[in-house]
This record gives sequence, C-alpha cells and structure tokens, in this order.
Amino acid sequence: LIVLGIESSCDETACGIVDHEFKVLSNQLYSQIKEHIPFGGVVPELAARSHLQKIGSITQLALEQAGLNLKQIDQIAYTCGPGLMGPLLVGASFARGMARDLNIPAIAINHLEGHIASVHLSNTRLTPPYLCLTVSGGHTELTLVSSYFQYQTLGRTRDDAAGEAFDKCGKILGLSYPAGAEISRLAASGNRSFIVFPRGLRQTQNPEFSFSGLKTSVMRYIENQTPKFIADNLIHIAASIESAIVDSLVDKTIKTMKKYDQNQLVVCGGVSANPWLRQNLQLSCKKNNWEFFAPSPEFCTDNGAMIAAASLFPNKINTLLNKSSVRPWYPLSDIA
Ligand code: KG4
Ligand code: ZN
Repeated sequence: LIVLGIESSCDETACGIVDHEFKVLSNQLYSQIKEHIPFGGVVPELAARSHLQKIGSITQLALEQAGLNLKQIDQIAYTCGPGLMGPLLVGASFARGMARDLNIPAIAINHLEGHIASVHLSNTRLTPPYLCLTVSGGHTELTLVSSYFQYQTLGRTRDDAAGEAFDKCGKILGLSYPAGAEISRLAASGNRSFIVFPRGLRQTQNPEFSFSGLKTSVMRYIENQTPKFIADNLIHIAASIESAIVDSLVDKTIKTMKKYDQNQLVVCGGVSANPWLRQNLQLSCKKNNWEFFAPSPEFCTDNGAMIAAASLFPNKINTLLNKSSVRPWYPLSDIA
C-alpha cells in the first residue's frame, strides 16, 4: 500500500509518500516562513495563496523523489484540521480532487494525529499504549494513546502553546519568527540560571500547562534592561527562557506518566526538535526505566509523510482484524 500525504494547515506546503510499513519513500516541503517574516507571524490569506501556488509542484517533486507516478498511489491522506481555514481548504480540495480523479480513497487526518504518527516513521518498534506529549506552535497537550484508534486527551495548555511561548519570547528579544530553533541555538552556550523565569502551574498535579505568565515576565524583564545589556547577555536570557519552558513540560509529563502508570513516553511536534527538551525527557525516562521515543528531527515540524502515516493506523487495525477495506479515520464530510 502506497500513501501520499498532503499537509497545508499552516505555513508549510508539504507532500510525503509512505508505504504500509511506515517507510518514507519521499518527503518534500516548501516553507513559507520568508513570506511571513515581515509581518511577525503567519498571515492566513497570504498562506492560502502561497499553498495554492506551490502544492502542485511540491506533489510532483515528491512523486519524482519516490520514483512513482500518480497511478501507483493507493490512497491519499490530507490534513482536515485543526489549522487555518484557507490553507486547509487548499490542501483538502487538491487532495480530494486528485483522489476522485484516480478513484482511490481520500482520508481526512487530524493534524495532531499526524504529529503522533510522525514518531512511528522513525520508530517501527513503537506500539501503543503510550503517553504522548505533543508540543507545537499551536498545541501543547498530553494524550494517552491506548491503541491506534483510541486517544484520550488528559490535559493541555490553558493559554499559549509551548512553540508559541518560544516564538513570543523570541519576538520580545528581537528575534525573527519562528524563534524556537534560534532560542535553542543561543541557549546551548548560556547560563540556565541567569534569571529564574516562572514555571506556570508547577505546583498543581493536573496535566495542564500555562505559558502566558512566562511571556509577561520576559517582557517586564526586558523593558527594564538596556539594549547593550540584552545584546551582551542574549545567550543567558535565551537559556533561562528555554529552561523555564522545558522544566514546565518535563515536570507535568513525568507526573502524568506516574499517575497513569505508563512505561513508554513519546514526544512530537515542532518543539520536540528542541535538544534540551529531548535530553531532559530522555534522562527522566532512563531514571524511571521507561522507554523514550521521538521523531527524527526532519519529521518534528509539519510534513506530509506524517499525514500519510496517520492514514495507515486504521488500515493497520483492519489488517489485524483481517479485513481488506480501508476505513477513513474521519468521515469525508468532516473536512475542515
Ligand atoms: O509542529 P510545527 O511545525 O507547527 C505547528 O503545528 O504549530 O511547530 C512549529 C513550532 C514553532 O513555534 C517553532 O518555534 C517551534 O515549533 N520549534 C522549536 C524548535 N524548532 C521548531 N521550538 C524550540 N526548539 C526548537 N529547536
Ligand atoms: Zn504541526
């Protein structure tokens, strides 16, 4: 079974091709970041137009990289949400039009399920049950994945997502959008206890996060410093911000692993590319004798291969049940 996946929920036009064993045959994407930088964030209307312009050529590139033509594709998967409405509609219309023409199934995939599936691309021995920490620009949540079909969201952020916290703090520091990777690069050589920024909701036991207090605290701190002081100490400020975000994520994740008696931890989403987060989660898992899984760095941020992979979950179940039909995860009427 060969699946082509289309991702267009935000600012990446992506197409990936994956086979039934989660082997990635190709993964191509066009990042719109440069188009949005002048505005300091993603402009939905611009994003939709850019997807429309690029989606055809990115799909063509993915087919060429895999050495396949459209007739060899058995199933098309696309992101149906959550995300920006215009961008989602471009991807959904493109994918469903193509599937209809080829007379093959079009499967609507939830973007967050796509991120969870990204971990299976690099770790074929991973099977549920596991606890998954999804950390991206739009989401921060802890999900109990009890089987390929069953997800239970245990808790999420009450305000900003972890990636959003990185991006907003970066903006305050004068870094360009998205700032997560740049903060993490600066932080690597900084003093992590230079400033102790707040760790939101740390005292509580519930699996919820909060990052808006951190953003305000960084803003107040920066307002009271001279530009020279900020420039001279940028690596230390970055390290202090990164540590505050990572400490909050690790603390709640470990508490939840214990509370739900899990022994496999998975992290996914754009922020899971962060080396300090990965290192800390891995260390905690080692201490507690738990297994730790993360996507390889190229599959942490949005991509098409993860969407294709998610559409294989229901199929996997059907294979186990010895059925041959492919069941859509979401009814096709559920689009965006
Ligand atoms: O999953 P993703 O590509 O898009 C969403 O679904 O939101 O995540 C993008 C987010 C951005 O906020 C970006 O700043 C963050 O992931 N990010 C990072 C790193 N690489 C990307 N945050 C921290 N450290 C990184 N190395
Ligand atoms: Zn994402």
